[in-house]
Amino acid sequence: MNEKMSRGAGSAFGGKIGFFEMQEWEQAYVGPRLAGQEVWFFDKDGNPHPPHQSSDSGTGQAAPSSDGSPLLGQKGNADIDILSNFINYPVTAETLKLFPKLKYVTTRSTGYDHIDLKACAERGIVVSNVPTYGENTVAEFAFALLLALSRKIFPAVKQVREQGLFLTDSLQGFDLQGKTLGVVGAGHIGMFVIKIAKGFGMNVVAYDPYPKPELAAQNGFAYASLEDLLKSSDIITLHVPYMPATHPYYKRAKYRAVQKRRYYH
Ligand SMILES: NC(=O)c1ccc[n+]([C@@H]2O[C@H](COP(=O)([O-])OP(=O)(O)OC[C@H]3O[C@@H](n4cnc5c(N)ncnc54)[C@H](O)[C@@H]3O)[C@@H](O)[C@H]2O)c1
Repeated sequence: MNEKMSRGAGSAFGGKIGFFEMQEWEQAYVGPRLAGQEVWFFDKDGNPHPPHQSSDSGTGQAAPSSDGSPLLGQKGNADIDILSNFINYPVTAETLKLFPKLKYVTTRSTGYDHIDLKACAERGIVVSNVPTYGENTVAEFAFALLLALSRKIFPAVKQVREQGLFLTDSLQGFDLQGKTLGVVGAGHIGMFVIKIAKGFGMNVVAYDPYPKPELAAQNGFAYASLEDLLKSSDIITLHVPYMPATHPYYKRAKYRAVQKRRYYH
């Protein structure tokens, strides 16, 4: 799975295209742009409908199959050649059985842990992702969470709503300026987080198995080992793909060495 494959794969396949997890406005955008191709939009219950014909059931999660994944295409039109999904419709070995003609799976996300790459490879099915999107959006959201924490936004709103009080004694937060932010995973999203953090006057250390020294020099941060990052950071933020190697990052045990006053999100 790489950028070249992502760009080239779409044009290599003809035939029926099945879109999953698409809202009405997305369907209205995509439908006319694929005029001349056979396109089906599948709703949350697996009912296919052609463009310009809305479904009653809308989009969302389908009833799960025995392995917990939604059963795609169980209501017909399973002879699609190309399947386009997002993150809530896993493509497992079981779901692949429903699409005997499938040649290409293209997820409209950067993460691809919801796709069984091995099962796809065994069938010779090509898989592609979106190499990057929404990097500033996710970084801004990460900072929204960080500021909510540092400025005690949730407790403040709760106190005002529930007690009609704004007692500053219990709502004292902390400044970001001068604090050290540890960024685990300095890819597209992580780099945006770093740029925002520098705007707040923070020191930044980053851990990434593929460091890019020129980016560190340009953006005024330092790479560190994960161990040193955990020791030196006041706040830790994770921007790694979810996969077996990064699973422990999402476990509390990983942060035992971190002092209690520190935060991670
Ligand atoms: N919620 C959303 O809207 C949204 C949007 C885009 C991406 N994402 C998620 O965010 C993730 C990151 O997106 P991105 O665009 O920054 O991807 P990216 O590939 O540009 O960056 C990921 C970084 O993680 C690093 N990395 C890989 N393994 C690591 C490890 N074991 N420890 C530390 N770092 C490691 C990589 O070297 C890379 O620099 C995606 O995989 C996806 O799951 C979410």
